[in-house]
Amino acid sequence: MSNTGFDIQLQLKAQLVNNTLRRLLASRQIDGDLKEAMRYTLEAPGKRVRAALVLWCCEVVEGRTNHNSEIAAAALEIVHTYSLVHDDLPAMDDDDMRRGRSACHKQFDEATAILTGDALLTLAFEVLAEEIDEPTVAVKLITELAKAAGPAGMIAGQMADLKAEEIGNRKPVVSEVEPSEIENQLEYIHINKTAKMFRCAAAMGAVCGGAGDTQFNSLCEYGLKIGLGFQIADDILDVSASSEQLGKTAGKDAKAGKATYPAVIGMEKSKQLAKKLADEAITALQPFGPEADTLRQLATALLQRTR
Ligand code: IPE
Ligand code: IPE
Ligand code: MG
Ligand code: MG
Ligand code: MG
Repeated sequence: MSNTGFDIQLQLKAQLVNNTLRRLLASRQIDGDLKEAMRYTLEAPGKRVRAALVLWCCEVVEGRTNHNSEIAAAALEIVHTYSLVHDDLPAMDDDDMRRGRSACHKQFDEATAILTGDALLTLAFEVLAEEIDEPTVAVKLITELAKAAGPAGMIAGQMADLKAEEIGNRKPVVSEVEPSEIENQLEYIHINKTAKMFRCAAAMGAVCGGAGDTQFNSLCEYGLKIGLGFQIADDILDVSASSEQLGKTAGKDAKAGKATYPAVIGMEKSKQLAKKLADEAITALQPFGPEADTLRQLATALLQRTR
């Protein structure tokens, strides 16, 4: 499939996710400013990559998307969107721009952004509990999402990311800690704050498609690998792309003293590592035939992305 063909596949999935998000939000009784802020953040033009991954993994297993995968994709996107609202807060990355628009705390205020994040996180689990067809499937999905987003997943990664920033500000970093120790720390941050949500997307899609153990494990490994590669690419783009391209402030990681791959191992090695992870992700798809070609395309597309 050409790159353009892949881009169209992603756009189609993004439209499906956007429709589900709109429907879910419209059907809930949420009042005033909170609803406005939730709509503002959810309707901003995110790439919807994780949500698309849920849908594609369901397709790989079952041959098509289904109701449960559409709900799971939306729930995961809602949690991801909350994480960005909080990530941008002044107490965290202090970023004024997100998805090409003012960050939630700039458009509204800090308290509203905190509460909007809380509301989104909670809503995602409400949606899974209420809208998934089978209770046993709902429990599996809730468990996967809670683990990936929680204190042994994304929150652990976000916490470590902020702590590493403190280390980063006590320059020079490299002379204080052995390089291998820094690299382990980096991997811990990136796996937890980002890769586990990608693994979760794959796991949720696999569950919705009724995957067996081999299929489930293969898709989870694929998700973890592309997730780590995705965050390395994000770090690379922070250095090499413009704010206009990214829809968020470029060049912020170095200023904040963030522990990123380009800062620690350099640009060239970071690109090589991202490529290696994409190759390993594709290898993890060995149990699948041509039905997984879109996932293979995704692994490569994430290396070439410009936003
Ligand atoms: C941004 O994720 C946060 C990271 C984990 C790098 P995305 O690059 O997927 O952001 P959106 O959803 O498209 O805005
Ligand atoms: C964010 O990583 C990871 C999250 C869990 C939200 P970054 O802080 O690098 O993401 P951006 O660059 O602000 O999107
Ligand atoms: Mg951050
Ligand atoms: Mg950030
Ligand atoms: Mg970043």
